[in-house]
Amino acid sequence: MSARIPAVGAAALTDRRPFGQLTVPLIAAPMTMVSTPALVSAACAAGIVGAFPTSNCGSTAELDEWLDEVAALVQTASRQPHAPVPGPVAANLIVHRVNQRLDDDLATIVRRGVGIVITSVGNPVPVIDPLHRGGCLVFADVASLAHAEKAAAAGADGLVLLAAGAGGNTGWANPFAFARAVRAFFSGPLVLAGGVSDGIALWAATVLGFDLGYMGTKFIATAESGASPAWRQAVVDARLDDITLGPGPTGVTASLLPGRGSAGHTVSGVHAITTVAEVVRTTQSEWQAARSHTRATLTEP
Ligand SMILES: Cc1cc2nc3c(=O)[nH]c(=O)nc-3n(C[C@H](O)[C@H](O)[C@H](O)COP(=O)(O)O)c2cc1C
Repeated sequence: MSARIPAVGAAALTDRRPFGQLTVPLIAAPMTMVSTPALVSAACAAGIVGAFPTSNCGSTAELDEWLDEVAALVQTASRQPHAPVPGPVAANLIVHRVNQRLDDDLATIVRRGVGIVITSVGNPVPVIDPLHRGGCLVFADVASLAHAEKAAAAGADGLVLLAAGAGGNTGWANPFAFARAVRAFFSGPLVLAGGVSDGIALWAATVLGFDLGYMGTKFIATAESGASPAWRQAVVDARLDDITLGPGPTGVTASLLPGRGSAGHTVSGVHAITTVAEVVRTTQSEWQAARSHTRATLTEP
């Protein structure tokens, strides 16, 4: 029998604080080659959302195996004393026509009860209804206002706003303006992709109207990542100014660390190769300190 995947249900949408049980409102962003079962399960075990592109699995059968492996690793970790409530797994479906496994991966995700699907690189509209019928929440990753409007009109439950400087396929919009423009017509969960280099930036995103932040680049430099040792070290050594724009593997404009691979402006927040648990712990304490500071400042006479 297949192991059950930790997931939020559609009830999360009726919660006034979506994803309210997370240790910090963070998603370990889906990353080609970087997201491994070890990274995803460590993220979930640390109480955040663990996302991965289904294309990281060599086949749909391997996707099934990954889901088993992640569920088993999370289950073991959650038996430790003081372990947080595990965060949910989110599967990232590339909805571009290059993905020939789209239908098969979608069917597996539904069958296995993965509660959250993030669509990217293409038009999410055709998959929203089938995923809803299967009980999944659908978050569409969008890089423009027009795409955000289209995804919202088609019934996407949440939107991931790809802002300037996001690692990999990037947007160009300033996140401040982008968030406020989308909040004018969309009241569902909003996720910021790009620029979340620490817990302080994550808190600022919360104030701006985001419910969650994506962290991608920072997880490249972890023990659990699928990146090569040279790529991990390059992310540690790089500064924001080293990130350039160029065509990514799918031809879409991407933020790149020349000679190494994709990485975003958040390299500025990466100072060492560490573990997923340590990144989450640090982000959580920065986020809490920033939140307390704002509250104290607001209540000053
Ligand atoms: C190496 C790398 C690979 C990525 N691969 C994917 C992918 O397969 N699917 C996807 O939706 N986004 C992908 N992204 C984008 C991330 O999900 C996310 O938007 C980005 O990393 C934003 O966070 P950051 O600014 O902390 O990097 C990738 C990003 C990086 C750096």
